Amino acid sequence: MPEPVYISMLNYAEEEWKKGGYETVAVRSEELNTFYTESARLLNANSDEIAYTDSATTSWQRAFFGINWQDGDEIITANTEYASNYISFLRLRKWFDIKILVARDNEYDEVDLNHLEELITDRTRLIAITHMPTMGGVVNPVEEVGKVADKYGIIYMVDACQSVGHCPLDVKKIGCHILSGTGRKYLRGPRGTGLLYVDKNLIEELDPISIDLFSGQWMDLENYRMRKNAIRFETYEKNYAAKAGLARAIKYQNDLGIEKTWQRVQELAADFRDKLRAVPGITVHDSGRVQSGIVTLTVNGKTCAEVMEALQYRNINVAYAFTANSRLYMEKRGLQEVVRASVHYFNTEDEIEQVVSGLSECLSNNTPYK
Ligand SMILES: Cc1ncc(COP(=O)(O)O)c(C=O)c1O
Repeated sequence: MPEPVYISMLNYAEEEWKKGGYETVAVRSEELNTFYTESARLLNANSDEIAYTDSATTSWQRAFFGINWQDGDEIITANTEYASNYISFLRLRKWFDIKILVARDNEYDEVDLNHLEELITDRTRLIAITHMPTMGGVVNPVEEVGKVADKYGIIYMVDACQSVGHCPLDVKKIGCHILSGTGRKYLRGPRGTGLLYVDKNLIEELDPISIDLFSGQWMDLENYRMRKNAIRFETYEKNYAAKAGLARAIKYQNDLGIEKTWQRVQELAADFRDKLRAVPGITVHDSGRVQSGIVTLTVNGKTCAEVMEALQYRNINVAYAFTANSRLYMEKRGLQEVVRASVHYFNTEDEIEQVVSGLSECLSNNTPYK
């Protein structure tokens, strides 16, 4: 998290403590509204197409369950789909007689556009794709998928949880109608924050399940009406200090320039992968023609938890993903778990050396790490 993000949350919380919650919102409304303008700037959208939520998952679900689903509808997704999204497909299948179809991967492990197009029927209601998956460096060709969706007039939704703040995202170029993102990953915002983009032409067609007096308005005893902009996907109560933090984080990224940081991330990640591949006993699992800053690996003879602990001991933070995070992808590759070592533009070549030597030591060390 950049320091200005932390400071903006602290200042906001301090003002709430001194003045009160409602009073602080009133005084800080202009700053809070920069969440919408900065998000719109980042995504090349309009500010009234942006909603603030508490996570990427909430963003995704508010839009997904808002579709007017009918028995017989079909959803097309890809092997890289994130678990929470697929679980939502399965839940929907309990409510409606729908079909979930998974497009094959191409030789680069990206979604195969030809197969995706072959799966389209007159009942295809949604194409839902994860842009940068949770367990590998592959980057799906979201713009090409957008062209297919547009050709057949199908609603197209992109899970950009890991790509927002990571690489350039232009909703017009992608051609998506819905895009969801989190604050806590490459945007470097606070935890418990998310953003949602919905195309202005689709907003009024979607009827989100969680609604209140903010997303809608109680007109008389028998009637309510929903907002006409993306605020219909928000609800009234929220953590405003976190919203101020996310607004600041997005502005921070916008001011840095996403083209510049993306190029740096790709260079660092390529260098990192080369160095890892040179170590016998370390396997890098990333594929794809374009690869993200999410570097995934396994270490011979070590579990991911052991690798994580060994690196933590050296003040290096990594995470790991396991089968249930992305079952289609992991099962296809026969993987149970992978270490995720993500780089951002601010990482250095020296830090990469430190991770590689930490992993090499971990490989040759049979004693406890501490
Ligand atoms: C591809 C993808 N989508 C969605 C999510 C969920 O994000 P959040 O925790 O903000 O709901 C994750 C989290 O790792 C993810 O990797």
